[in-house]
Amino acid sequence: MPTIEFIAGIIALIAIIFIAYLYVLSIVNSIIYKVPQVASFNSDLRVMRKWLVKYNLKWKKLIDMWSGTGKMLRFFEREFGCITTGYEIDLANSLIARIFNKIFKLNATIIRWNYFTTNLADFDIVYIYLYPELVAKIEEKLEQEARPWTIVIANAFKLIKATPKEIIYDDKWKEEVYIYEF
Ligand SMILES: C[S@@+](CC[C@H](N)C(=O)[O-])C[C@H]1O[C@@H](n2cnc3c(N)ncnc32)[C@H](O)[C@@H]1O
Repeated sequence: MPTIEFIAGIIALIAIIFIAYLYVLSIVNSIIYKVPQVASFNSDLRVMRKWLVKYNLKWKKLIDMWSGTGKMLRFFEREFGCITTGYEIDLANSLIARIFNKIFKLNATIIRWNYFTTNLADFDIVYIYLYPELVAKIEEKLEQEARPWTIVIANAFKLIKATPKEIIYDDKWKEEVYIYEF
């Protein structure tokens, strides 16, 4: 008859192996998809909180491409009342995003899938925090799918062709976030 200690040890071992597996998968994903697992900085959130109030974002459908651990989904739902969706290819990130959703009782939809399969015409706001190479690909998709009123919020890296309607600056008057209307 196995003891409680033995069963607890097996459970702990399985948990450690699973977490290590998720961690390795995350590293592999960031190499394959050429994007680091970095969330938007709190300083970005602070400037957006201040500058975006003039846009009426309540009930607007927002997609974060791609959502990582869901930080921006939580931000836009709590601060602005957006209806949020995140596409995220990485298993660990999407699990963490779902757990946060439950803890904070939020409604974000997390889809663990490759973003390129979604249609941007279904969204009013598109949030992007990615490297220029990927931003360029997304801009091509936006050109084909975005509706005339779609708002694009690009953090740190601007779209390649489109001209921003507004540039949000931080308190050192450095360019932070770019807003576009398609
Ligand atoms: C820089 S993080 C951005 C996280 C979040 N948008 C934020 O600002 O906090 C980029 C995320 O994109 C994910 N990713 C990369 N390629 C993807 C793809 N084709 N489809 C879905 N997610 C992808 C990565 O796993 C990573 O979590």
